[in-house]
Amino acid sequence: MASELGTHEIVDTPWRQHIRVDQAGRLRIEDLDAEALADQFGTPLYVISEAQIRDNVSRFRAALARGYPDSHVFFATKANRNLAVRRVFSLAGAGGDAFGPTELYLTLLAGTPPDMVVLNGFNKGEEEIRAAIEAGVAIHLDASAELDDVVRIARQLRVRARVGVRTRLLLHSLDDLQGDWPAGTLVGPSVRTEGKEGVPIEEIVPLAAAALAAPEVELVGLHHHIGRFVASVRLFTSIVAEQLDVAAEIRDQLGWTPGYLDFGGGMAYGRPEGHGPFGNDRGRPTYEEYADAITTSLVAGLDRLDLGRPRLIVEPGRLLASDIGVLLSRVGVSKMFRDTGQTWVGVDASWNHLLNVATAGWSYHPVPATHHPDRPVVRTNLADSQCWSGTLATDVALPRLARGDVLGFLDAGAYTESKALQFNGIPRPATVLVHGSRADVISERETLQDVIARHRLPPHLVAPR
Ligand SMILES: Cc1ncc(COP(=O)(O)O)c(C=O)c1O
Repeated sequence: MASELGTHEIVDTPWRQHIRVDQAGRLRIEDLDAEALADQFGTPLYVISEAQIRDNVSRFRAALARGYPDSHVFFATKANRNLAVRRVFSLAGAGGDAFGPTELYLTLLAGTPPDMVVLNGFNKGEEEIRAAIEAGVAIHLDASAELDDVVRIARQLRVRARVGVRTRLLLHSLDDLQGDWPAGTLVGPSVRTEGKEGVPIEEIVPLAAAALAAPEVELVGLHHHIGRFVASVRLFTSIVAEQLDVAAEIRDQLGWTPGYLDFGGGMAYGRPEGHGPFGNDRGRPTYEEYADAITTSLVAGLDRLDLGRPRLIVEPGRLLASDIGVLLSRVGVSKMFRDTGQTWVGVDASWNHLLNVATAGWSYHPVPATHHPDRPVVRTNLADSQCWSGTLATDVALPRLARGDVLGFLDAGAYTESKALQFNGIPRPATVLVHGSRADVISERETLQDVIARHRLPPHLVAPR
């Protein structure tokens, strides 16, 4: 997609201050220069700002607490499961949403208190259920049959399991809302047809009844997550209202009220030059707007239905982690196709490292790490060196790039390292955490040996000497 503000112009916003272009036109991560980091640690290189993580968490926590004191921000560990990143989130006061045994392990290893962690996922395995029960982490049931597994394992462990119910809301109130991801969809019908998640609405009360009747479990809360169909707070006013109706129904039938209500993630992140699906996310709700929408509808609904003041949890991934990272990449060869007038510039980052570009039409804004005022601005395509199409930016306005230049793909902190692939056998990049003027490697760069480490040749295929 075409970038309107090509070159260097990063429009600074109050929520993005630690990764930015300085007055001299140099890309900086906190106190460090991007090009110097690329020279020192090599490229491609994920660089994370510790200060940005801390600021994001505290800003969202403060915004929520203004409208609802007992509110908690849980970081969706899937968005960036690097252990050091997870540790900074935990130190900043964020709990965790974990999928699968590895995310659960990393979230706890990072020091997140178990009562600040939830285990989500459909068709959960024995290992993760066992680990969650042992740690005291709440397990969100995503199918009625999961209760049987939890009860069985809790009985074996002789530990009472904490469980919540992930609800499948029908969300007819969103039937007229136009989504932009997937493109051209109406949110309500898409929610109902496109996801496997959540316990069917007619099974929720019977499942809650079964959980309340089982001495091996304690029913502690309700959960709902809506994906990012559109960058609008309306998603949240709808799920809050509908989830409260479900809570009231359970209370009326069974006399139970939730200890917490977890409204998941799905909050959009954007930048003025375009980001995310098809570059659509330019303006997007601020932390404060998301917090106001959630807490205002929550307080109104709790009062209307007389449901007390359960703990409020949100589980953002993308909103909290996008602007914490930049992917640095070095420019290689360029070529020009005279028939189309296109310039193609090769870079060493790839779809492997920004997978959402390939799978979801995602856009990341590229900026040169160094400003060259003497160079003309030209329309440029940036391409990786792999054998798939691998176009990382199409028709963007950039100062003419030269071999050896360093580029930064901004807002690459979420769903990048955690989704990175080794297609074409390319070793995955290193990651560096910047803290003021300090830079530490927090993921080692892979080697060729790492890429092939799990391969085995059966004896009959070993070449005769
Ligand atoms: C249950 C749950 N919570 C939170 C998230 C985080 O979503 P996002 O990164 O869009 O905020 C996801 C994403 O898949 C999820 O499935």
